[in-house]
Amino acid sequence: MVFLSTALVPPDLVEGLATRYPLARVTGAAAEITPDGAAAGVRGWLTDPTQPVTPDILDRLPDLAVISQFGVGYDNVDVAAATERGVLVCNTPAVLDQAVSELTIGMILALGRGIVGFDRFVRHGRWPVQAPELVHDVHGAVLGILGMGRIGRRVARLAQALGMTVIHHRGSAEGATRVERDALFRQADFISIHAPLTPETRGSVGARELALMKPSAYLVNTSRGAVVDERALVAALRDGRIAGAALDVMEREPLPAEHELCRLDNVVLLPHVGSATVQTRRAMGELAVRNLVAVLEDRRPETVVNAELLARLDDQGRT
Ligand code: DGY
Repeated sequence: MVFLSTALVPPDLVEGLATRYPLARVTGAAAEITPDGAAAGVRGWLTDPTQPVTPDILDRLPDLAVISQFGVGYDNVDVAAATERGVLVCNTPAVLDQAVSELTIGMILALGRGIVGFDRFVRHGRWPVQAPELVHDVHGAVLGILGMGRIGRRVARLAQALGMTVIHHRGSAEGATRVERDALFRQADFISIHAPLTPETRGSVGARELALMKPSAYLVNTSRGAVVDERALVAALRDGRIAGAALDVMEREPLPAEHELCRLDNVVLLPHVGSATVQTRRAMGELAVRNLVAVLEDRRPETVVNAELLARLDDQGRT
């Protein structure tokens, strides 16, 4: 038996899986998922970032062998608890790098060149655009990247192709300059977040960091909403202490329509669509299903989060 807790996997892939394993669609907390207590016989679980995977739920799934996450981020999964219980956790890295990077560049251009703001301008019957409404060139601007992993490096390359100067404070990227973290906030015209949500990064872009930014600077977030202290961000945007933000992710998703962010004109809001292209969602779905089936068939999955468990299973000759 396989649990399915995501609506994002393309339907034909789900149908294919259902021809091989009995599937149960489940979402929510432990009690909702397994109301009668332990769900014996569930060996695989296809999840996405909206599905909490807690120790409590894992305790009700004694036969679980694999959690296959549809997504690169896995902050919804208690990986330590899964590892302790011998459950492999897989995700879908790499296949979405370009899609997320493209969207990031789109968000930078939307903010910098006023694409969303000018759309509203036209709809309100206004024309032409002249000072003080003129915007600034994106080429020549400084992009600060927080989180120089695969996606950060891809964004850096695209930004450099646009003529932006890229700075960062950790890791390395060709042609990018490494600076101190505070200097990054002070110098950047755009800051783009590509760090995973971890205890260390949660709320790590807060009032202090926002106060370091130039009043003309913009914040872009396509990683996880909770990396940013949203209350501090709303205050900075409302008071014009930074020029604007583009957010594909929020602390609470879906963002309630009455949220203060929805009332601010200097914010571009997107519904977590970094990977939402037909091609990328398919590639993610295929990889997530391959990972799931591999473990169910006692083969090695391709992309594993808790590699230490895989090594242990290898030693025991179980993969
Ligand atoms: C991811 O892959 O983690 C993205 O946020 C899409 O869910």
